Amino acid sequence: MSNIESVLNEVRVFEPSAEFVKQANVSGMQAYQALCKAAEQDYPGYWANLARETLQWKKPFTKSLDESNAPFFKWFEDGELNVSYNCLDIHLAERAEKTAIIFESDDGKVSKVSYRELHGRVSQFANGLKSRGIGKGDRVVIYLPMSIEAVVAMQACARIGAIHSVVFGGFSAKSLHERITDAKACAVITADAQMRGGKQMPLKPIVDEALATGGCESVHSVIVYRRSGNNVEWNDGLDIWWHDLFNSQPTHCEPEWVGAEHPLFILYTSGSTGRPKGVQHSSAGYLLGAMLSMKWVFDYKDSDIFWCTADVGWVTGHSYVAYGPLAMGATQVVFESVPTYPDAGRFWKMVQDHKVTTFYTAPTAIRSLIKLGGELPKQYDLSSLRLLGTVGEPINPEAWMWYYNTVGQGRCPIVDTWWQTETGSHMIAPLPGAMPIKPGSCTLPLPGIMASIVNEAGDEVHDQHGGFLVIKRPFPSQIRTIWGDPERYRKSYFPEEMHGYYLAGDSAHRDDDGYFWIMGRIDDVLKVSGHRLGTMEIESALVANPLVAEAAVVGKPHEIKGEGIVAYVVLKGSRPSDPNKSREIAEDLRNWVSKTIGPIAKPDEIRFGDNLPKTRSGKIMRRLLRAIANGEEISQDVSTLENPAILDQLKNAI
Ligand code: WT7
Repeated sequence: MSNIESVLNEVRVFEPSAEFVKQANVSGMQAYQALCKAAEQDYPGYWANLARETLQWKKPFTKSLDESNAPFFKWFEDGELNVSYNCLDIHLAERAEKTAIIFESDDGKVSKVSYRELHGRVSQFANGLKSRGIGKGDRVVIYLPMSIEAVVAMQACARIGAIHSVVFGGFSAKSLHERITDAKACAVITADAQMRGGKQMPLKPIVDEALATGGCESVHSVIVYRRSGNNVEWNDGLDIWWHDLFNSQPTHCEPEWVGAEHPLFILYTSGSTGRPKGVQHSSAGYLLGAMLSMKWVFDYKDSDIFWCTADVGWVTGHSYVAYGPLAMGATQVVFESVPTYPDAGRFWKMVQDHKVTTFYTAPTAIRSLIKLGGELPKQYDLSSLRLLGTVGEPINPEAWMWYYNTVGQGRCPIVDTWWQTETGSHMIAPLPGAMPIKPGSCTLPLPGIMASIVNEAGDEVHDQHGGFLVIKRPFPSQIRTIWGDPERYRKSYFPEEMHGYYLAGDSAHRDDDGYFWIMGRIDDVLKVSGHRLGTMEIESALVANPLVAEAAVVGKPHEIKGEGIVAYVVLKGSRPSDPNKSREIAEDLRNWVSKTIGPIAKPDEIRFGDNLPKTRSGKIMRRLLRAIANGEEISQDVSTLENPAILDQLKNAI
């Protein structure tokens, strides 16, 4: 475990103000501990009570947790409900005219929808989907820009019991194709184009390209939202305009009542193999997690203006844009564009303009905004803010301090939330009115989340050395399976030696106060700008290029992105000896990966070698490649290497 020993020694502690504690939903450490104790005393009963209090059930459940077919856990299984009903209909009596979404477009145009209007739009679109024969259990791929329509599309699927799979608009045709075919989607919902940073980027043409690849016979409808007004190719019989589908539909649509375990969505994420995993979530347990974390971690109040900057293409945009805030009846900001357009003050201007109280973003965004305009927040009135949050990767203490002092003006607690696509909602995060915070620590588990740290044998460790982060008991919002691959689900998350604990894939350690510090991934997964990328996925993309014989990808610390991508490549021909030629091929390969997977996967660096450092059994020694990428001296034993001379070559390679 020597490679995951902690090097951080952060001692600063920030207590919540008396004022914040007084108004908090969970007020003071004792209130937090009381909840934890209730969970320990009667685990299924604890969750059953919360599920009864928090969700509206069509048919109440009688059983809380079913572990009989572990690790395929079931929660509240005989209950029936509808997620869209829980996000929209329940607000019609008391807050129909309350603004649900404040949408700001790329060029700064603002439009608002009330809960009544959103309910109407979702119902109309749901009826439109039904008119295309789409119904319960059908998979619908959503490939849309950040928009009110994206939320409407997701909610409409939930309303009719269709299972959505949102694909981030930055993914390539190949990535989209992979997801459409794996999910056997019957429909794709897209837009003609998306607008980001004053530029137009095509979406519909990418859908066309994906469908033309073949194997997508399951798709019978492509629904196209008109965003740019550009001409797009049209496939009669397959394509239909959003407005044509939508306009003629009634604004009432009876929700489809589904079982608690009915899959709400599939979201693909990277793992250690070349193929992304379709993480399948439930309806009731998932929504419960989203709502409880809104209440506990975001300390949600009816008067809040909530803004989570994540795209709906990621799980954060599911739990804290499309579902959590709506289920709580919140007013939230949805933003189409990027934080740096027209300049790095955009976020702060929007906080000021919309009087945002709760702001949730990624460390990578914070770091880039520090770099591009560290003083800019001072030009805006940020006095509406009362709580800040981060997610996606560890935040370095310097960025934390800037966020705390310059954005939060020393007044707003920061909730550093550790969770994953697979956990559905926050797992380890401060309850801001209960516990002191420390820069760089995600603090303590949410009440009822039995997080711990274990060694390779699955035994708990309590010292500073750290180990593997696990969650010892099943919890309602967790992944149910990997779509179409239950065996991969079992192997990835519940390996033999872990005693049935959920293995998160991160290393972590705990300090003397029991606070968790996340140290990084233990598998071949990178976190690039907070996005998860499998090294193998990038390697497969490289090897698919006709010039490439072999490739190995490792991460390297990056000032803004957290982690950058370094690829070691062996070409089929000989290694280019001319540095200009070398640079040219490297540039082509970087663009190739960008085109194959998406711009987020574009390698920062490519190095060519005659071969790669391998053990005699043929395993690539990534640890060595990582050391070389970081310019470190290689202290490990290299005697097991098949070809030790390659190390010098790669060190000097460009
Ligand atoms: C991985 C999950 C959770 C939504 C966005 C990312 C890393 C996430 C933190 C945090 C340190 C974090 C972990 C985790 N991660 N939050 N607060 N501190 N690391 O979801 O793409 O499923 O990635 O992100 O490595 O395993 P994801």
